[in-house]
Amino acid sequence: MVLALAVIACALVFAAATPMDRRAMVVHDSRTEPARGFVKSGLAPVASDLTLRIAMKPNNIAGLESALYAVSDPASSLYGQHLTADEVAAFVKPTNETISAVSAWLTENGISSAPVTPAGDIVEIVIPVGKANQLLSTEFSVFSHVDSSKTSIRTLQYSIPAALQDHIDFVHPTTSFTRPLTGRPQFSAVKAKPTEDAAPGSEAVPSSCNSVITPACLQAMYGIPTTPATQKSNKLGVSGFVGQYANQADLQAFLTSYRPDMASTTSFTFQSQDGGVNTQTPRSSAGVEANLDTEYTVGLATNVPVTFISVGEYGSDGVNGFMDMITALIGEPTGTRPNVLTTSYTYEETDLSRSVATTLCNTYMQLGALGTSILFSSGDGGVSGSQPQSCTNFMPTLPADCPFVTAVGATGGINETAASFSSGGFSNYFAIPSYQSNDVATYLDTLGNTNSGRFNRTGRGFPDVAAQGENFEISWTVRNRYVGGTSCSSPTFASIVALLNDELIAAGKPPLGFLNPFLYSAAGRAALNDITTGNNPGCSTNGFPATKGWDPVTGLGTPNYAALRTALGL
Ligand SMILES: *[C@@H]1O[C@H](CO)[C@@H](O)[C@H](O)[C@H]1NC(C)=O
Ligand SMILES: *[C@@H]1O[C@H](CO)[C@@H](O)[C@H](O)[C@H]1NC(C)=O
Ligand SMILES: *[C@@H]1O[C@H](CO)[C@@H](O)[C@H](O)[C@H]1NC(C)=O
Repeated sequence: MVLALAVIACALVFAAATPMDRRAMVVHDSRTEPARGFVKSGLAPVASDLTLRIAMKPNNIAGLESALYAVSDPASSLYGQHLTADEVAAFVKPTNETISAVSAWLTENGISSAPVTPAGDIVEIVIPVGKANQLLSTEFSVFSHVDSSKTSIRTLQYSIPAALQDHIDFVHPTTSFTRPLTGRPQFSAVKAKPTEDAAPGSEAVPSSCNSVITPACLQAMYGIPTTPATQKSNKLGVSGFVGQYANQADLQAFLTSYRPDMASTTSFTFQSQDGGVNTQTPRSSAGVEANLDTEYTVGLATNVPVTFISVGEYGSDGVNGFMDMITALIGEPTGTRPNVLTTSYTYEETDLSRSVATTLCNTYMQLGALGTSILFSSGDGGVSGSQPQSCTNFMPTLPADCPFVTAVGATGGINETAASFSSGGFSNYFAIPSYQSNDVATYLDTLGNTNSGRFNRTGRGFPDVAAQGENFEISWTVRNRYVGGTSCSSPTFASIVALLNDELIAAGKPPLGFLNPFLYSAAGRAALNDITTGNNPGCSTNGFPATKGWDPVTGLGTPNYAALRTALGL
């Protein structure tokens, strides 16, 4: 099924243009150099077409944020009363003044535009590079990503008319760089397989779980029920990017081995975005992430309908399809959107401009307000194979550092300790949200001068929570090599949220939606196992230590299903 982006009903309003000095241009965004790993290889050919998106300022994004917290904070009288798509769009749509001003500018330059979001806040234009150079007083160039040789047309600085500064958030893609996404789990070194795997359904945690993680280990460690979920409307979405395909035969083999109590034919639904496909043959190592994500959702969230949402190669939004996917979900009718969405792909924060990152984050805010819990792996510092995240865990990862998503870090071992690769830290783009302000302050006190000057003390701290992320057995396990990464942790935590939603819906209650205000509440944190040992040294730095309470390695801790049920009044 191809999702069409919902188109706003009302056309752009063409008001009589008031005379203004449209030629007074001001620099709207600039950066001194391209993102790490990119080099400029020449000027972009002036005749080639460029697709640009213009994000107009929403009329009341602060109002949407307040509304989101009102429905997501268990202490609020509106808790659980998720917004409708119309209510969200009313906050996000630009004012008539903004629409008129931007339309007038485009019309004056003979450019037609089309909205690409339900609220109409982002419009798309297609113009030759030469015309874009004039329109934005810039010079678009070809940049090459050295490791992959992938090229893209970008610029280090662009301008817009001064009169439009208050109306436009960004024109894109311009100063944001989209590297091939990281997020593939790592294969561990060859190690001896335990003589016996954990038996499915056993309550005590088998010692084999210290070397290899299977669904039975996670069920035993976190108390995840094996009883089938009952609510057909309760969808769990799994994001797939960059040609990652989830293999049905692999899933069947996985379930046969590790969930013999389930029908081995249990599968996922496929949903395509931006021309995404789910090729089944030939199998390639490119399928490891997608297989991991589908196996540890279908195989853990027993009988919850899982949808694998696959985005075409690089998406058409200039951010690998991240924004298009969420926009499409926002445009879906209520009742068909996933209640939980897990994504195991990340950017380095500085890849994207502050304004593009902010709008992307605000797109998650919209989907969260509609009632979807959005989980991201926090990223794997220093161990991302061919795409190292600059070998430092002081580079925050996007979108995990967006305050409106739940970032999931990794642990390992039966006596859980922080995984050394578990990315975490503090954003330079997003300020500390109030739900974690006490936690961050306490942590910074404990930290003292450690890593002083290497991170932003006023930035949003991440991750929020954690789950196992080392030595996962998947269908692709060969020669006793297992996979590891926060890529394992996010689907695990998402499955638990999906099972809780199943119980909530069965009890006539709304699904959880944006999780963080609940997780950071006294009841929420009491239902998590605080991880107090280990740290995330990444390559050569000291990293951050896990401590008692919240820390930027394992967040508030790992899930305890029974305690979460109780905390939610189930
Ligand atoms: C904005 O424009 C729409 C469509 O023309 C109109 O219905 C609405 O009343 C206008 N809103 C304001 C506040 O002027
Ligand atoms: C876990 O910790 C407990 C208490 O510290 C200890 O008794 C036990 O042996 C440990 N288990 C493993 C598998 O390390
Ligand atoms: C630190 O974080 C704050 C809050 O997001 C931000 O405003 C500020 O620009 C950041 N500082 C640096 C040096 O990036």
